[in-house]
Amino acid sequence: MSALKILVIPGSLRTGSLNARLAAVAAYELAQLGAEVSRISLADFPLPIYDGDLQTKSGVPKNAVNLKRMMSAHHGVLIVAPEYNSSVPPLVKNTIDWVSRVQDAQEARGEVFRGRAFAIAAASEGRLGGTRSLAALRLILTACQATVIPNQLALSFASSAYDDMERLKHPADIEAMGAMARQLIDVSQRMM
Ligand SMILES: Cc1cc2nc3c(=O)[nH]c(=O)nc-3n(C[C@H](O)[C@H](O)[C@H](O)COP(=O)(O)O)c2cc1C
Repeated sequence: MSALKILVIPGSLRTGSLNARLAAVAAYELAQLGAEVSRISLADFPLPIYDGDLQTKSGVPKNAVNLKRMMSAHHGVLIVAPEYNSSVPPLVKNTIDWVSRVQDAQEARGEVFRGRAFAIAAASEGRLGGTRSLAALRLILTACQATVIPNQLALSFASSAYDDMERLKHPADIEAMGAMARQLIDVSQRMM
């Protein structure tokens, strides 16, 4: 059987992003469990704000097509995104919107969401750890007909959640990360 490939997508471009930091820890955990992990930055896939006229005039931007193909080349996808005003940041929503418009040859539109497992995580300085944005992100992905695994991680008080080796230090966070990573691998394997 070929190696199980997982794509990790941080949903923030900010220098020192708490979510990019959590994405790095998740990528390490997934690799420790045997997955072949690619961690990307959405900075490498810049996209205009979705506009139907733009799509009609110029088609779906190449970066959305490339990102969709990158997702298609993996068996599972983990999105680690911040919470903005109790919801998903525009970067993440806009990226999903464009990717959902990609139609590759011999494929139905949206197959990239239907054909693989998704996991979601968030990091925030707040007590809820981005729980509300995770609910919104789950809804968006489910609307795209994605299989979103039940286990998720909302990392509270995120800048003090690590030890000096950049590992999660609180048992509940370690447990939630492990459960999410194991389930993502398990469900991705079953969808291969
Ligand atoms: C526009 C905006 C809205 C925010 N709303 C929330 C929120 O609803 N809940 C929350 O926990 N944090 C909120 N925050 C704080 C972010 O969680 C915090 O800035 C976080 O560090 C952003 O993620 P990043 O570090 O990965 O860039 C908000 C930040 C911004 C810029």
